[in-house]
Amino acid sequence: MQLPETLQEAIEEWIAHTPLKQVQRARESVSAFYREGADSHAVFQDPMRLASYLLTRLPATYGVARNVFSELRARVPGLVVSRLLDLGAGPGSAAWAAVDVFSELRALTLIERERPAIEIGRRLAARGPSVLLHAEWRCESLNSAGELPEADVAVLSYVFGEMGEAEKVSCLDRMEKSPIRGIVVIEPGTPEGYRRILQVRDWGLAKGFLLAAPCPHSLQCPMSSENWCHFAARIERSRLHRLAKDGVLGYEDEKFSYMILLRGEIPVVPCRARVVGRPHKGSGHVQLPLCKSDGGYEIRSIGKSRKEEYRAARGADWGSALV
Ligand SMILES: C[S@@+](CC[C@H](N)C(=O)[O-])C[C@H]1O[C@@H](n2cnc3c(N)ncnc32)[C@H](O)[C@@H]1O
Repeated sequence: MQLPETLQEAIEEWIAHTPLKQVQRARESVSAFYREGADSHAVFQDPMRLASYLLTRLPATYGVARNVFSELRARVPGLVVSRLLDLGAGPGSAAWAAVDVFSELRALTLIERERPAIEIGRRLAARGPSVLLHAEWRCESLNSAGELPEADVAVLSYVFGEMGEAEKVSCLDRMEKSPIRGIVVIEPGTPEGYRRILQVRDWGLAKGFLLAAPCPHSLQCPMSSENWCHFAARIERSRLHRLAKDGVLGYEDEKFSYMILLRGEIPVVPCRARVVGRPHKGSGHVQLPLCKSDGGYEIRSIGKSRKEEYRAARGADWGSALV
């Protein structure tokens, strides 16, 4: 997964006059902030940390959002996403990903409370396609009680980790009261992130939403805090990204957990099972960790003799839906 060329260029242009050594130092403090559960305020208020965020975090959250939106498109091909709401948008990473996946997108509203994130988001968007260029940015807290703008889909990408319990529920309740059809929540692929996704899942089921992905059923989740539900998106690193991270590899795997809730009369492509871990592909057999539509979890070994199933298993990846 690579950033769109225009976005990569816009970031590099913005960073051109920033000393890389300082960005490298800032990266360590950005990682520490997020590791310790601090919110983004300290990151977006400091130009070096912001630069580090753009170089090293934005590609990851963009890549993950693109992966999740592609899954929404695959599972619910009939859902027309012409208006999208990016809540806790930061510099707009998820909105860029949405533009790539939903070619029908005509209106974007981004709500974010940190003004510097909006300023840089606007500058990056100025290089993007028309829907991004004309996006509406609102400097607001998600805790305020007003009505949300109308949208087909709302996304909260890496936001719930920065909110208290009551704030999260009130934010979800606001979405329920608006005519939004799909809610996409993305969290880090850690046990904590998974726990927050389970809360969203429980909330969604209680409010009558359908689980469009990743769950193949709405029974109790068979995963646990030792073997939690998460996935990985492979992100290609740009030259500057590698330098900022002192990284040797040309890519990194960003782990994430997610939930897509849906309501209304709209068909969802059924899924027999979801691959919830890295497949092991040996010679003549494949092992797939599966969350199944009957509510169970199983590591299934599929040999060459089961031709059809074997072919599907060889093509499957971590995160694939088996239909
Ligand atoms: C880790 S960043 C993620 C940014 C972006 N969604 C992404 O995926 O790259 C979390 C964002 O949520 C915003 N945020 C957190 N709580 C918020 C709130 N109550 N109201 C508005 N924005 C909030 C932060 O300011 C920050 O920009």
